[in-house]
Amino acid sequence: MSTPSQPEETAPYGTGPARPTAAAPAKRVRTHHLREMKERGERFSMLTAYEQYAAATFDEAGIEVLLVGDSASNNVYGNETSLPVTVEELLPLTRAVSRSVRRALVVGDLPFGSYQASAEQAYLTAVRFMKEAGAHAVKLEGGVEMAPQIRRLTQGGIPVMAHIGFTPQSEHTLGGYRVQGRGEAGSRVIEDALAVQEAGAFAVVMEMVPGDTAAEITRQLLIPTIGIGAGPECDGQVLVWQDAFGLRQGRMARFVKQYADVHAVLLQAARDYDADVKAGTFPGPEHTF
Ligand code: KIV
Repeated sequence: MSTPSQPEETAPYGTGPARPTAAAPAKRVRTHHLREMKERGERFSMLTAYEQYAAATFDEAGIEVLLVGDSASNNVYGNETSLPVTVEELLPLTRAVSRSVRRALVVGDLPFGSYQASAEQAYLTAVRFMKEAGAHAVKLEGGVEMAPQIRRLTQGGIPVMAHIGFTPQSEHTLGGYRVQGRGEAGSRVIEDALAVQEAGAFAVVMEMVPGDTAAEITRQLLIPTIGIGAGPECDGQVLVWQDAFGLRQGRMARFVKQYADVHAVLLQAARDYDADVKAGTFPGPEHTF
C-alpha cells in the first residue's frame, strides 16, 4: 500500500528496466533512490547534458543523473572558464534537458555570483531553476561557508547537491586547477563534506580530491558522494560529456577517460557532406521530389 508521502515510490529503485517501454513506463530517479543505492553498495552515474538529443540519449542509456553544468560556459557558450555564464543563459539549457528526459534526475547548476551573496539570493535563484526550467534539484559550490544557503534551499523545498574540493568558480582564489585536500588539508575537505551533509544536501560532488580522502568521506557520509577526479571509492561518478566522448579536442584532465571520438565522427561526416555537395552527388534522385 502506498503512503501519502511516497505515492507509488515505495518499490526499491533499480528493480525495473532502465529503458522505458509501453508496458513499463520510466520511473523517475529521485534523490532518495541515490541514497538507497549507496546503502545497497550500488554505484550510479552522472553526466553533464546541455540540450535535447544528448540528454535523451544519456537518459536512454540509463544514466541516473544529468547535470546542466555551469561548464556550459566553456562547452556551449565558448568561454574559457565557467565564470562568465549567467542564470539567463543556463535556464533555457536546463529547460531543454528536463523536457527531454523521462527517467534521469535533472540538476541545474547555479552559476557564479547567483547564490554566494546570501541564502536569500540562493533561494531566489534556485526557485527559477525549479519553476522556469523544470530542474529537479540544484547544485552549488562550496562547503562550510555554503551551509546557510544549503539549509535555506532544503528548508524551502529545493534539493541541493553540494560541490567541494576543487570548485571551478573559485579558480582564482584556489590558485588554478589543482588537487584539493592533499595531506593535512584533507581534514578541511572532510569538514566541508560533513557540513554540507549536516545542512541538508542530498549528495556531494568531490572534484580533484585525493582518492584516499574521498574514500574516507564516502565511508563517513550517509549521503552519496559523486567523484570527478576523486578516485574509485565514491558512490557515483560524473564527467563532462564532451570530454568523455571526445567532442572536445585538446588537453584533458588526468581524471577523464575517453569513451568515444565524437569529434572524428562529426568531422568525417561534415567532410563527406561537403565533398558530395561540391561534386554535385548530393542531393541524388532519391532525395529529390
Ligand atoms: O559544471 C560542471 O560540469 C560540473 C561538473 C564537472 C561536476 O560542475
